Amino acid sequence: MSRPADGSANWGKASRQWSSVGSPLRPCAEDVAFTEAAIDRQFGQTGRPPAAVLLGVTPELAACRWPAGTRLTAVDNSRAMIDALWPAPGVPDGAAVLCADWRGMPLAAGSIDIAVGDGCFSAAPFPDAGTICREIRRVLRPGGLLSIRLFTRPERPETVDGLREAIAAGTVGNVHALKWRVAALVQPRIEAGARLGDIWDLFQQLAPAIAPFAGQPGWRADELATLDRYRDNDLRFYFPTLEEFRAVSAPWLEEVGRGHGTYPLAERCPTLLLRAN
Ligand SMILES: C[S@@+](CC[C@H](N)C(=O)[O-])C[C@H]1O[C@@H](n2cnc3c(N)ncnc32)[C@H](O)[C@@H]1O
Repeated sequence: MSRPADGSANWGKASRQWSSVGSPLRPCAEDVAFTEAAIDRQFGQTGRPPAAVLLGVTPELAACRWPAGTRLTAVDNSRAMIDALWPAPGVPDGAAVLCADWRGMPLAAGSIDIAVGDGCFSAAPFPDAGTICREIRRVLRPGGLLSIRLFTRPERPETVDGLREAIAAGTVGNVHALKWRVAALVQPRIEAGARLGDIWDLFQQLAPAIAPFAGQPGWRADELATLDRYRDNDLRFYFPTLEEFRAVSAPWLEEVGRGHGTYPLAERCPTLLLRAN
């Protein structure tokens, strides 16, 4: 199993900046609606409120429209993130949180109707993605669902010059969309991931192109400041192509649906619906 570099410290800082982080890094209403449709679909099939797992403590998913009687358990291995974000206002009555690893969750096999998550396969080292899918499959009952938003990179990489031109043309959208485009560029291969310090370095090269937008919505000082914690940071995020994700998930989970929103870079951030057969 791989071990992330100082992940807890990173997520602690991230949790303090949560209000300055926007889509695509946080799920927006369109993403939440996709997950709610998956929850409704599961409820419709079983006829009873679900036993559900939230992978992480993403507030938007914790407090989405769960049926009355849902038994929700959130699982996150960062105590700092749990302390900062749990419980979100509006979580289902009786919702619980476990400080535990997705690679080995303290949950009984076949006990869960639906698992939901946001960006989980970019937060955990990608070499562990197959193990995490297997573990999700273990806790889901047959027919159970996983609704997961991915942060992917395109099959055909863009270039630094192309990205600089897109910034100048005003088509990037916001600093968070730019972070993920830069991340895809600095990631040498999926197993290595994108080192946050390398994302910060390339951002500095792009600073002259960004400067004209400073202060505008999506490029406010507090939003740009979410980059500060990336400087000299050895932590890595992981950006698989859709096919790379499918290669590790397919042995355990069958893809039965996919959708994405309309915010900047939404096309790289699909929510996949997968079923345990
Ligand atoms: C849900 S993911 C992505 C959240 C958000 N969309 C973003 O990109 O910032 C972030 C969470 O994953 C948690 N995490 C990362 N790897 C984990 C693992 N192997 N087991 C449990 N939690 C993990 C971190 O502690 C963090 O709270």
